[in-house]
Amino acid sequence: MTLKEKDLQYIWHPYTHQKNMLPPIPIVKGEGALLIDQEGKTYIDAISSWWVNIHGHAHPYIAEKLFEQAKKLEHVIFTGFTHEPAVTLATGLINLLPPNFSKIFYSDNGSTATEVAIKMSLQYWLNIGEKKSKILAFNHSYHGDTFGAMSVSNRSIFNAAFEDKLFDVIFIDTPGSDNLQQLIAFIGLQTDIACFIYEPLLQGAGGMLMYEPEPMNDLLTYIRSQNILCIADEVLTGFYRTGTFFASDQLEVKPDVICLSKALTGGTMALGVTACTQKIYDAFVSDDKARTFYHGHSFTANPLACTAAIASLHLLQKDECLANIQWICKKQEEFLSELSISKKKLETKNHRVCGTIAAFEIITSQSDNYLNNLGTLFTEFCINNGVYLRPLGNTIYIMPPYCITDEQLSKIYDVILAFLAQGEMA
Ligand SMILES: Cc1ncc(COP(=O)(O)O)c(C=O)c1O
Repeated sequence: MTLKEKDLQYIWHPYTHQKNMLPPIPIVKGEGALLIDQEGKTYIDAISSWWVNIHGHAHPYIAEKLFEQAKKLEHVIFTGFTHEPAVTLATGLINLLPPNFSKIFYSDNGSTATEVAIKMSLQYWLNIGEKKSKILAFNHSYHGDTFGAMSVSNRSIFNAAFEDKLFDVIFIDTPGSDNLQQLIAFIGLQTDIACFIYEPLLQGAGGMLMYEPEPMNDLLTYIRSQNILCIADEVLTGFYRTGTFFASDQLEVKPDVICLSKALTGGTMALGVTACTQKIYDAFVSDDKARTFYHGHSFTANPLACTAAIASLHLLQKDECLANIQWICKKQEEFLSELSISKKKLETKNHRVCGTIAAFEIITSQSDNYLNNLGTLFTEFCINNGVYLRPLGNTIYIMPPYCITDEQLSKIYDVILAFLAQGEMA
């Protein structure tokens, strides 16, 4: 069936300004880093379909494993029952997580993974009888779109409509050598902080902002010394996005809780994981039923999603995949060097790279933020040239699937440089 514009009338698309919205492009097929529309036109998926895809679209190995599992068991309630895909995945993840991790709690997506982490941490203190209920988070953070996740996220256009419904959170800047002592002094003045939630090394939706491991280590060391639980939101940064398996691998101080989603299933199915240490879990083991963690979703630990995640982990362990990740990290650095010296009508600034992700801002007459009009013009230009990029306002970033070819990555760079050279925004 070929979709016509009128067929799309009943769908409300996310994060999309509805007035004068361009008709969405019907995609009929995916192959590696390519998306193919119903007219046969191809687009290189340069942001991994909202940061989830790592092995490419419609990967035959993942598809095969899903097909086999779908014929055996598509879903089963996850209280009172368990199943092999959930057990195998949990064992695989525990072996990859820091050594003090011992439990995997499943949910559906990145927002539920962080929501679970916050609830688990708050209830931990309640269960052990300590009165701690405040939460610490970073300015420019993004942890999802449910109410708890919105509350611990930066106050911004994303959640402005609900501001009076969000609970209070103490926000601090990300650490650098210049403000570390100030941050420590500020935290020292606070009382009753239950937990600190952070996106390690890279704040994605906040603008692909990057910060250094050394001051973060010092900050985490201090926070730990104050008996505050540390929650690493690795929903975006997990699975080698920042060059190491977890971004937390680049930090000496390990968290108490880690949130995973997005690339967990290779980008094939929705699944969330909140992993925690034995110390946290033990606080929920009690004769008192009120200490139970009363949280769950109908599709918790869906066997198909767990199967996709196991298959994705297999692919991630292959030498070829690891070599590609290293190659992408190098190519991104090289591109940013080229960007610095290339002749262009539009100027750029803040060139930065964190593992497989490169980002920079295009300088415009408007302020640097998500509502900057450049994003729409830029996306349209890229789409017309066979590349899908979706900037955060005037922040351009490239986050390719690990299977991307040299030719495809070079094409992404060429299209960006062509946009900057033609200078339509100047
Ligand atoms: C760091 C981080 N946490 C949580 C989320 C929410 O994930 P989801 O969109 O799957 O709810 C996102 C999504 O971009 C994210 O980047």
